Amino acid sequence: MQRHNTTERRTVTVELRLPERTVRLEVPTDEYLLYSVSEQLPGYHWPKACEQGWCLACAARLIEGMVDHSDAVMYFPEDAAAGFVLLCTARPLTNLILEHHPRQTRRQMFQHRLDHRLPARRYPALLHRRGPRRGSSSHSVVNGC
Ligand code: FES
Repeated sequence: MQRHNTTERRTVTVELRLPERTVRLEVPTDEYLLYSVSEQLPGYHWPKACEQGWCLACAARLIEGMVDHSDAVMYFPEDAAAGFVLLCTARPLTNLILEHHPRQTRRQMFQHRLDHRLPARRYPALLHRRGPRRGSSSHSVVNGC
């Protein structure tokens, strides 16, 4: 009789569609997607800020599969119905197909929240802004990046 190791971690396959490539990753079901995926793609820039599921920085599109969002501070049924996930607080329940664009996806989810009169916070507003401030005549980089 074969014994199963009960401490063995279950993994699922994530197909991740990025702006310039598509990758397939094996990720554990007991970790939040943001960390397990970014660990395997060290060169890819993953926007993140609150890491609690409310600022929308890490938003992605769920094309196929199911995730557990029960740890997110602010995630609504309308978000799930529209196919948005917050990677920082989403654990995979099944194999997934995700789509992510570092600039567009967060904006799309922000607009979706506004369209449905749901709370949306543009965060962090100033950290990614470049160029002159309103009312300023000088050209400066706000955060030095
Ligand atoms: S980092 Fe804020 S919602 Fe994910």
